[in-house]
Amino acid sequence: MASSLIIFSVLFLSIFSTSLAQTSFRPKALILPITKDQSTLQYTTIINQRTPLIAASVVFDLGGQNLWVNCDQNYISSTYKSPRCRSAVCSRAGSDGCSSCFLPQRPGCNNNTCGATPDNTITRTATSGEVATDVVSIQSTNGSNPGRVVQISDLIFVCGSSNIITGLASGTVGMAGMGRHEIGLPSQFAAAFSFNRKFAVCLSSGGRGVAFYGNGPYVFLPGIHISGLETTPLLINPVSTASAFSLGDKSSEYFIGVTAIKINDKTVPINTTLLKIDSVTGIGGTKISTVNPYTVLETSIFNAFTTAFVREAAARNISRVASVAPFGACFSTKNVVPTRLGYAVPEIQLVLHSNNVVWRITGSNSVVSVSDDVICLGFVDGGVNARTSVVIGGFQLEDNLIEFDLASNRFGFSSTLLGSRTTCANFNFTSNA
Ligand SMILES: *[C@@H]1O[C@H](CO)[C@@H](O)[C@H](O)[C@H]1NC(C)=O
Ligand SMILES: *[C@@H]1O[C@H](CO)[C@@H](O)[C@H](O)[C@H]1NC(C)=O
Ligand SMILES: *[C@@H]1O[C@H](CO)[C@@H](O)[C@H](O)[C@H]1NC(C)=O
Ligand SMILES: *[C@@H]1O[C@H](CO)[C@@H](O)[C@H](O)[C@H]1NC(C)=O
Ligand SMILES: *[C@@H]1O[C@H](CO)[C@@H](O)[C@H](O)[C@H]1NC(C)=O
Repeated sequence: MASSLIIFSVLFLSIFSTSLAQTSFRPKALILPITKDQSTLQYTTIINQRTPLIAASVVFDLGGQNLWVNCDQNYISSTYKSPRCRSAVCSRAGSDGCSSCFLPQRPGCNNNTCGATPDNTITRTATSGEVATDVVSIQSTNGSNPGRVVQISDLIFVCGSSNIITGLASGTVGMAGMGRHEIGLPSQFAAAFSFNRKFAVCLSSGGRGVAFYGNGPYVFLPGIHISGLETTPLLINPVSTASAFSLGDKSSEYFIGVTAIKINDKTVPINTTLLKIDSVTGIGGTKISTVNPYTVLETSIFNAFTTAFVREAAARNISRVASVAPFGACFSTKNVVPTRLGYAVPEIQLVLHSNNVVWRITGSNSVVSVSDDVICLGFVDGGVNARTSVVIGGFQLEDNLIEFDLASNRFGFSSTLLGSRTTCANFNFTSNA
């Protein structure tokens, strides 16, 4: 009896120490690279998944609920698992049903498992797909360089199908959702390594941008630490903004409270009701999105904003020229000087929860060069029935570091890094592992 107890405890100890050895390196933060597809203007990242490991290129979807990949084609992995329905994994995925599949068994087609919604937020199409887990490898970081590669053995994702990847950047096989959801990647990364539910995104127009998960610092060449971000509360839209959802679902997207829009310190006259999220319908408000290449404004806001910008530009002798789609206002570069912060055009100010917390948008993030002598205001008309009144899009985010702290519900923003003499393409991706 006593000896079997000893054998048992020796066995137990050795199992325990093996698992300790495997987990003794605990990263403080992780990173993903982000690049921009120049033909679709979508931002993409790489998720190293499966056994054997493959580099899956997926669209980076800031507000998306989950990671989903096409399991119809070339999904080969010895570590693919479909959780049993009503298991803990299914409940984390928010899925309480039990699903069956009447085709030959393969990843994406199993019985007694649960389903979730792969959502193509670009074409706004959603289907149902199997919830699954598989191995994911990801680089840790100390804030300045990539470090050791760490593994998550059972990252939860959703199986999409060939028909919903239509519209995604060429070569991508799904979308990586960074939204506020139990199985959104920021929550899963934080849970896997017990670090803060916090992440930061730095998009680049032409180079390789970066997303950080966990704790800072955020360091860009040449040794510039980005800190002292301005912050404002992250708001929760009580009504889902996904392509398909159940009654009562909250939005997984990130909303902030813009209270006024100014151009050169003059308030643009808009109906401020549109800036609030209606608590019953979920309509209105301001969200941040990486699937919209340019900021989208509800029609009445767009018109007032464009008129005000054109007037301020005219006051600086910047002359308007014929519009170039999809933009509403374009200008000759003749009287516009290029500066370190982009073309010297009227400054756009998004006033947040307090009059002294202002997101300032300079030429680098407000005007798009469409030819050698024409620049256009990089904002587009979202229509009269826009569900969300202001959707801050990719072009306005580039070379800004933005941080999402899901535990304290705070959004942090750096304003353009060009002012700090660096860019989002300046993260040193040379590993020092
Ligand atoms: C699921 O169960 C049904 C009914 O028993 C069976 O016909 C089907 O082949 C099974 N599917 C898979 C993928 O095992
Ligand atoms: C990260 O590690 C590299 C190499 O060891 C070191 O040079 C750098 O200073 C570290 N950065 C931080 C922010 O600790
Ligand atoms: C402002 O917008 C709200 C919501 O669309 C609308 O109900 C209201 O009538 C508008 N107010 C004005 C003055 O146009
Ligand atoms: C704009 O042009 C007019 C006429 O050429 C000139 O008088 C004025 O000073 C200019 N204004 C600015 C702000 O450059
Ligand atoms: C990037 O990091 C690597 C590894 O620490 C270092 O050798 C290299 O000098 C860094 N690059 C620059 C431009 O500082």
